[in-house]
Amino acid sequence: MKFVFGNWKMYLDFDESLVLANQLATESYNSNKVEVAVFPNYLAITDVEMSLRDTSIRIGAQNCAWVPKGAYTGAISAEMLRSANCDYVLVGHSERRYVFGETDSDVRKKLEAVLDVGLTPVLCVGETKKDREEGKTEYRLKKQLMKALDGINLYSNGLIIAYEPVWAISNAGVGEPCDPEDANEAHELIDLEIKQYLDIDVPLLYGGSVTANNVLSYLAHDSVDGVLVGSAARKIETFSNLIRTVESM
Ligand code: PGA
Repeated sequence: MKFVFGNWKMYLDFDESLVLANQLATESYNSNKVEVAVFPNYLAITDVEMSLRDTSIRIGAQNCAWVPKGAYTGAISAEMLRSANCDYVLVGHSERRYVFGETDSDVRKKLEAVLDVGLTPVLCVGETKKDREEGKTEYRLKKQLMKALDGINLYSNGLIIAYEPVWAISNAGVGEPCDPEDANEAHELIDLEIKQYLDIDVPLLYGGSVTANNVLSYLAHDSVDGVLVGSAARKIETFSNLIRTVESM
């Protein structure tokens, strides 16, 4: 079984999210072959969840706060997402880290908050272009993983990790995908690294300019259990085509 997770970022407004959810609801994907989840904006989560309730498609959130409730203007807690029937929460997406300034320590607190309420975090890690140019890819990945995972209690919720090289993430579809061999190398490193902290199986997703045309080149590697898709998940044609491609493996 492979994972295809669609991160809708801030690409779609409320109406557009609902239109796409309703279109997805008319498709039927083989959940033995592919686990599909969508990550709408907060505003649309409840309606998208209702639209997809009778399908095998799961719902995730793009972010959360690390405290459950209180005087935190503009924040949404993991507990609120749980009561909105989310299954997953993205934690440490590079846009949260590098656009909104989240640190490794913020990521850790969010990871714990998601686990505390019984949801499954999708922890995103990845090196920047500068890291790569300076030969610091391994350093960055190891540091992000250590800060997130050292001494963590996963309970029985499980964990998914997404390797997303920051330089490979597209801006509205314009991006430079990572060479599948390089992605495989990073996945093998991540796999070894997480064994130091955890003794459970952690699915590893690749993210960064994934489309229906290149998805199989990533999934051809055993180290890649699925994909986290941004731009190509914004439209029914490209997203469904991608899911069908994975389903036909
Ligand atoms: P992309 O985004 O597919 O548009 O590169 C991936 C992501 O940021 O999750």
